[in-house]
Amino acid sequence: MENNLLSLSTLDKEDFDYLLTRALELKQRHKQNISDLPLAGKTIGLIFEKPSTRTRVSFEVAASQLGGSSIFISSRETQMSRDEPIKDTARVLSGYLDCLVIRTYAQEIIEEFNNFSTIPVINALTDLYHPCQVLSDLMTVVEYKNRYKGLKIAWVGDGNNVANSWVNTAGILDLNLVLACPENYQPDPEIMKNALAAGKGKIKIVTDPGEAVESADVIYTDVWASMGQEEQLEKRKKLFKPFQLNSKLVSMAAKDAIIMHCLPAHRGEEISDKVMEGEQSVIWDQSENKLHMHKAILETFL
Ligand code: CP
Ligand code: NVA
Repeated sequence: MENNLLSLSTLDKEDFDYLLTRALELKQRHKQNISDLPLAGKTIGLIFEKPSTRTRVSFEVAASQLGGSSIFISSRETQMSRDEPIKDTARVLSGYLDCLVIRTYAQEIIEEFNNFSTIPVINALTDLYHPCQVLSDLMTVVEYKNRYKGLKIAWVGDGNNVANSWVNTAGILDLNLVLACPENYQPDPEIMKNALAAGKGKIKIVTDPGEAVESADVIYTDVWASMGQEEQLEKRKKLFKPFQLNSKLVSMAAKDAIIMHCLPAHRGEEISDKVMEGEQSVIWDQSENKLHMHKAILETFL
């Protein structure tokens, strides 16, 4: 395992299995009020250039529950906003902190931080990837289905950062990933090519959401316009309409299919209120599991 988590493509099956097992174990221990303090005396820094509710709060709580502390660094309030270079900021912060958790735009920004940091750098979302999200999602899949091997995962909607991280995952684990996305809104072609070449799981892109959800074990959707794409929303709303996760689409899947969404959701756009609140939705456990997986990630990478 590398000393950073910039994308899931640097993990192997053993790394995934280790993190999944440890996150499930940490969740059980937390429910039993057993403390684990591997981060005692350690401080993690969170640099967020985009908004966040779940990822920010769960990483901060994760650090605190593991005996460490966290500092939230809004880039607007640092010298980064006055063009201090990333390579200088990364070296300075490495002298104070034990880990950097970063949410930003271009993947190149987090790579630059990593190149000049001497501490682990964790990707808390970029335009290209959302690795921590998919790790915790996989934990939820294992909780509900007792395995991930061979499961059919249907992605419905935009081939965005979360979708790209699912594609990475299906290159490494034995999954059957079918992504239904409008043309021109499909996962990154380079990421697809590499995952297909790695060849562990099956990965297919289709344009018919019905084909993706048919006999799926897991159905996943996400917003139609990600952070930074807000001005495209009106155009996307028209194009993505047939990709709404509603009761009709869900009825085409297996009866025990679970419904997932990384949140925040826009009810009435990518998902209907009925499906979000319905019996097959595991969305609230999914969001809770970010805490437990982030604890496993911090413990492992620190
Ligand atoms: N799912 C997720 O990353 O949510 P936040 O944007 O609230 O962190
Ligand atoms: N694809 C979404 C995920 C939010 C957690 C975005 O990037 O805005």
